[in-house]
Amino acid sequence: MTQQTSRPWYRAAAGVLPRSVRRRLLCLGRDLASIRARLKPGAKPAPWSSLHDVGGGEFHTVGRVILSHLINEAGLTRDDHVLDIGCGTGRVAFALADYLSPKGCYTGFDVAPSGLAWMIRHLPPAAAPFRIVRADVFNTEYRQKTASRAEAYRFPVSDGSVDVAFATSVFTHLLPADAENYIAEIGRSLRPGGRAYVTAFLMTEARRAPATSGQAFVKFHRFGDVAHVGDTKVPEAMIAFDETVFMGWVARAGLDLVPPVKYGHWSGEAPVPGQDFQDVLVLRKPA
Ligand SMILES: C[S@@+](CC[C@H](N)C(=O)[O-])C[C@H]1O[C@@H](n2cnc3c(N)ncnc32)[C@H](O)[C@@H]1O
Repeated sequence: MTQQTSRPWYRAAAGVLPRSVRRRLLCLGRDLASIRARLKPGAKPAPWSSLHDVGGGEFHTVGRVILSHLINEAGLTRDDHVLDIGCGTGRVAFALADYLSPKGCYTGFDVAPSGLAWMIRHLPPAAAPFRIVRADVFNTEYRQKTASRAEAYRFPVSDGSVDVAFATSVFTHLLPADAENYIAEIGRSLRPGGRAYVTAFLMTEARRAPATSGQAFVKFHRFGDVAHVGDTKVPEAMIAFDETVFMGWVARAGLDLVPPVKYGHWSGEAPVPGQDFQDVLVLRKPA
């Protein structure tokens, strides 16, 4: 699903090139590789990685795969109110535009104005109403021109109004207090019986040694009491939370885990077929 920077050259260049340069090279490579697909007759528009990076894989293919997970694992139906937390450039929104019925509805929000502008310009007409909201919230990696903090942000939906919420590759970019608030906000937003599909990097006891010794896709460093980050100067670039702490936030938000956690191969394990890069959790608000 959300493939990231597991390329050996990216890790090898860590001590030589600053992260911003490595990221630019990575995006350039992805953009060059995508040119042939973009030129095919009938190709749907897809954002350039250098405009707003949402990871590797073909944009619309990955969006459709995530939609199938929302249907099969979080019980999404065509008539649902779906909340896209950190919607980026609308990778899943494109697939949802085809899928949702006129009874359904979509709310997506993000902090990065350039990605949202692209999404609003290119999203196709949909049977369901779509609402796209710019969250005026600080993130060292994605939005620096504001002082508002994500730890105090209230999602743009009313209490108990959402059937399915999802956050793909977003908790990997939130500081601990922000992530705790976003889990609480999921708990507030979901209707009883509603579900959330979230991806994260969960640091377990067994993963700590490989992840901090450079066997993961980046070398993680301890960051405060509850997290590890890939870059201490830009902690939101890549952040892993201690699993027990993360699950404590889930419990405090009044949510249950729908087991099992599907562990990804981000921490350096050899991937098995069908395994995602990030860890995947389905959460449920009790009915
Ligand atoms: C790797 S992208 C993933 C985008 C999208 N979820 C997807 O799967 O295509 C991470 C996204 O999280 C957004 N983001 C970062 N901090 C956020 C916050 N506090 N609230 C909402 N979105 C945030 C970024 O702007 C970026 O679009």
